[in-house]
Amino acid sequence: MVYRSLVRPILFRLPPETAHELALHSLPLFCKFVERPFESPMLNTDLFNLRFRNPVGLAAGFDKDGVALESLAALGFGFIEAGTLTLHAQPGNPKPRMFRLAADQALINRAGFNNSGAAAFVKRVEHRRPDCVLGISIGKSKITPLEEATADYLGSFELVYKFADYVAINVSSPNTPQLRELQQSEQLTSLLVELQTRNRALQKRHGRLTPVPLLVKISPDLERRDLEMIVEVIERLQIDGIIATNTTISRDHLRTDKSRVEACGAGGLSGKPLTTRATQMIAALYRLTGGRIPLIGVGGIFTAEDAWEKICAGASLIQVYTGFIYKGPSIVRQINEGLVEILRREGFAKIDEAVGSRAKEIEGNR
Ligand SMILES: Cc1cc2nc3c(=O)[nH]c(=O)nc-3n(C[C@H](O)[C@H](O)[C@H](O)COP(=O)(O)O)c2cc1C
Repeated sequence: MVYRSLVRPILFRLPPETAHELALHSLPLFCKFVERPFESPMLNTDLFNLRFRNPVGLAAGFDKDGVALESLAALGFGFIEAGTLTLHAQPGNPKPRMFRLAADQALINRAGFNNSGAAAFVKRVEHRRPDCVLGISIGKSKITPLEEATADYLGSFELVYKFADYVAINVSSPNTPQLRELQQSEQLTSLLVELQTRNRALQKRHGRLTPVPLLVKISPDLERRDLEMIVEVIERLQIDGIIATNTTISRDHLRTDKSRVEACGAGGLSGKPLTTRATQMIAALYRLTGGRIPLIGVGGIFTAEDAWEKICAGASLIQVYTGFIYKGPSIVRQINEGLVEILRREGFAKIDEAVGSRAKEIEGNR
């Protein structure tokens, strides 16, 4: 409530990126006033040999450099995906590069992986791990040509390996030129083969019992045949999971004036307008994989009902970004409390029992 009546009006007067920086850096102060996180054994989820205390995660891009991971964990997230990190530190695209479409509860961004690089990240989090599962997202540096993308990903992978509970391979940001081409069959296969090979080598070197779980984050702008191909590659290469979805380049069905939307320019759209598209994609992936590959559902989740819809479509875990901006830190508790209520109402004892329970119906609504 305080967020919506007091904090958000102040933050929303500032340019979106300034508000974001301010929020991120003042979190340690703010955290002292947050209630203890909501907990329930009904929300515990075991996946990838990891224990998630609840299924609500913070999506990649919010804390790219890992400057506030401990404070974010204190808000009650079950997991945080830091990054996207690149091998080379880079400033990202020129500002302004982040825009609010308040009438649509949406954002447009073309941040372009602004980050201080994988090595700097590792130095920062080495002694300051958050008290929850930590995923680390890696992408391609802008200066690296697409043909050399694999070496760039491998460089970041080696650096973050020891610190990541899972690694997310981001091949779906619309804001790095050509990055999405890495979702094509040949490119994706060669990238993932190399990453898995390195993963197994590092496993031996570090004496881990299992390789680090690798997940691939995909775009909502893919066609059905692309999904089929991606699932085939992912199953063949024993990739551990899929994160669906990143932001969309579509501008369909927006309430905001067309001229205002156009004035924002290029970038990925996130938030409410993405909800249904992302949910349907999750349902399609769940059906294509027969539920064998865990899915993390992300895109336009604002409420427990939104999260429930993603879970019933096939997501074992969910993430928020834009909903967190619009609703504030209490969104974590609201979703978790709401999920427990829904589980009780629907007669499920645990989240994992509900995963994919309505995938067929939801996919059919396309
Ligand atoms: C400002 C901004 C920056 C983002 N940066 C990244 C990023 O670095 N890596 C990534 O995988 N996704 C990034 N995303 C995408 C989100 O992680 C998420 O997939 C997407 O916004 C859909 O979820 P939402 O509707 O809850 O925001 C970013 C999104 C926003 C709004």
